[in-house]
Amino acid sequence: MNITVNKSKGLKGEVVIPSDKSISHRSAMFSALTGGVCEVHNFSMGADCISTLNIIKELGCSVEFLAEKHIRIDSKNAFKKDRYKLDCGNSGTSMRLFSGILASREIESTLFGDESLSKRPMKRVILPLELMGAKFKHNDYKAPLIIQGKELFPIDYKTPIASAQVKSCILLAGLNTVGETKVTEPYVSRDHTERMLKYLEADISTEGNVTRIRKSQLVPKNLHVCGDISSAAFFMVAAAIVPNSDIIIKNVGLNPTRTGIIDVMQKMGADIQILDKRSECNEEVGDIRIKTSDLKSVTIEGAIIPRLIDELPVIAVLASQADGTTVVKDASDLRNKESDRIKCLVTELKKIGVQIEETPDGFVIEGKNKLTGGAEVECYHDHRLAMSLYVAGLICENPVCINEFQWVDISFPEFLPLMQSLF
Ligand code: S3P
Repeated sequence: MNITVNKSKGLKGEVVIPSDKSISHRSAMFSALTGGVCEVHNFSMGADCISTLNIIKELGCSVEFLAEKHIRIDSKNAFKKDRYKLDCGNSGTSMRLFSGILASREIESTLFGDESLSKRPMKRVILPLELMGAKFKHNDYKAPLIIQGKELFPIDYKTPIASAQVKSCILLAGLNTVGETKVTEPYVSRDHTERMLKYLEADISTEGNVTRIRKSQLVPKNLHVCGDISSAAFFMVAAAIVPNSDIIIKNVGLNPTRTGIIDVMQKMGADIQILDKRSECNEEVGDIRIKTSDLKSVTIEGAIIPRLIDELPVIAVLASQADGTTVVKDASDLRNKESDRIKCLVTELKKIGVQIEETPDGFVIEGKNKLTGGAEVECYHDHRLAMSLYVAGLICENPVCINEFQWVDISFPEFLPLMQSLF
């Protein structure tokens, strides 16, 4: 589906942001580990989370939709077969987290995915799992992964990069391994796994960037998924840069390991307010009001990077409207996402007039730049690039045509109607 985005005259109104992708994945996976019945409210209908849901069905769970986005998962018959072939689609989170879950069980499983996922690095999870004694066959550390599951040994592992997927993979292997498994990260990455495992009564504790887990049986409970701040980010940036905008984004997850975008926007001088902060299933939630803002440039580097890693493409669009030069550093892992998000973003934003240059670990953007638009852009099968380009299109002088926009369905199928409801 190719779409055309026109210059916007202003965004006004209220949107309820759909479910968090990271938390939805975990809600289905961890429900499957309880051996009981869990209901999940507000589950994401993005294609990635549906891949996880299909995997737990394949593993023997019964999954029933009780209402829209409300599912009942019964896992009493899970993990009963000796062999599984599991399709992760486009989802890196599914492949990396299930690797940890499956490596520690006496079953043989094959995890495979689409063309993009088959090119993504899996060494980061294979290495620590092999240190725990796991047996893998792989295609030069890429999918398909064949895992000969077995009882593992606990490890004390320092991750070379701050990655929630790597940390979660090891913790999930540790959840089914006798002894204490310990993971230390260079910087704290998103901690949804730790919070949800704790909520389900696992023996897990965190101190700074160190997490410890011991073998535990999870207790079945009902789970609520809050709205995704990574999806909200497109609306936050759009409202900040489109003149005459004032919007409220409801039900946004405000877990401090994910709110780097709010910190950066505040530092840039954005007119942003957090309303009605509350807690849901061990996660902070609130509403965000944001208006058209006068922005100044920033440098984004170091410990904040994992707290806004998925928002960097849309932050580049934001920075194009700030006064001064914005520099993003320490973000080389952006090259390993659904696309090489540094190279692809820079190539496409240049086509519509953004003054942006690629660096090995990020990009540099000159701000206060009138965007010409009037070009056809590609999203490289990457949902976040597609939505970032859409937001840029809202401030371009001439229409922008985005090819293959359907890739937004990976995380945010409701994106277009929700954005258009603010026109
Ligand atoms: C995710 C962690 C991040 C993020 C991805 C989702 C998760 O990846 O980019 O979209 O749910 O754990 P990394 O762990 O590779 O940084």
